[in-house]
Amino acid sequence: MSIISNDIDKAAEILTRNEVIAIPTETVYGLAGNIFSEDAIRKIFEVKQRPLFNPLIVHIHSIDQIKSIAEDFPATAKLLAEHFWPGPLTMILKKKDSIPDLVTAGKDSVAVRMPDHEVTQELLKALPFPLAAPSANPFNRISPTSSSHVAEYFKDQIEMVLEGGECKKGIESTIIGFEKEQVILYRLGSISIENIEKVTGPIKIKNKEENSPNAPGMLAKHYSPRTSLILVDNWQAALKKNQVKKIGLLLFGMTETEPNEVHIEYLSKNNDFEEAATNLYQCLHKLDDLELDLIIAQRLPEEDLGRSINDRLERASK
Ligand code: TXA
Ligand code: MG
Repeated sequence: MSIISNDIDKAAEILTRNEVIAIPTETVYGLAGNIFSEDAIRKIFEVKQRPLFNPLIVHIHSIDQIKSIAEDFPATAKLLAEHFWPGPLTMILKKKDSIPDLVTAGKDSVAVRMPDHEVTQELLKALPFPLAAPSANPFNRISPTSSSHVAEYFKDQIEMVLEGGECKKGIESTIIGFEKEQVILYRLGSISIENIEKVTGPIKIKNKEENSPNAPGMLAKHYSPRTSLILVDNWQAALKKNQVKKIGLLLFGMTETEPNEVHIEYLSKNNDFEEAATNLYQCLHKLDDLELDLIIAQRLPEEDLGRSINDRLERASK
């Protein structure tokens, strides 16, 4: 019997028993549990094999719920919520004491976002508690953007994957925080820096620091296929150098000189950043299933969502 199901009532029933299930969001699927249940949160860490020092994101359905999660909601945070929620923006806020330390890995801050997915919105509205959810992939593996990815990862370990189709955005939420008036970027994601800066003015980027204590999930190695992957500016040169191997190519746009006997995945034939982001993990999952010796990925222009995609590919190459 498949664990993939459309049944939102059943999903709510399982979560109310403080068990974990996978839920769809517009970015990637999440492994979700009741934020107020230490049992549920502990199960999330166990199933995902995630180290306890790496905190989780809390998912809500209305701005009103912020009151039960965060001590305060600065004016800039409010402004950003009005612009980007529901949507792939996670904000780090000062946490309420009622949030278990397990969710926040002992920090005095909590990460919050309102996902833009009809099914999960309905589920969240049916529950008397918000959901903590990391991406539904085992630690260090490729993030899941379809229910089948999750079912393959966790078939015997969770009761249900709530079906929500393929994720529209395809890469994780952008994570920001606040230092006084200053907006800080902790993780590149589905909303570009350019789009956030249109609302807030210049933001400060903390993302490049490896193993940053503020976002331990930003470990250098992350989002990885089992197949070796290199990220290059010139894929033709990389291909020449690695002639003997069974190779897969991950290209941004269409090429007129398709090499033979190489499996090619295109992120976006029209060089569209949004489409490329949507396809990124799907393409990586496909390439990783081909038993290749090497994946050669083409670096995207370092602007807009190209930056977020390069960030994930860089981590996948470590
Ligand atoms: O799009 C997403 O954000 C997806 C979907 C499921 O919502 N979730 C996701 O969760 O990507 P996860 O656990 O894979 O990544 C959460 C990141 C981690 O890097 C973690 O360190 C950071 O959020 N984080 C969580 N709470 C934090 C906090 N209080 N301060 C700093 N970083 C935090
Ligand atoms: Mg993750």
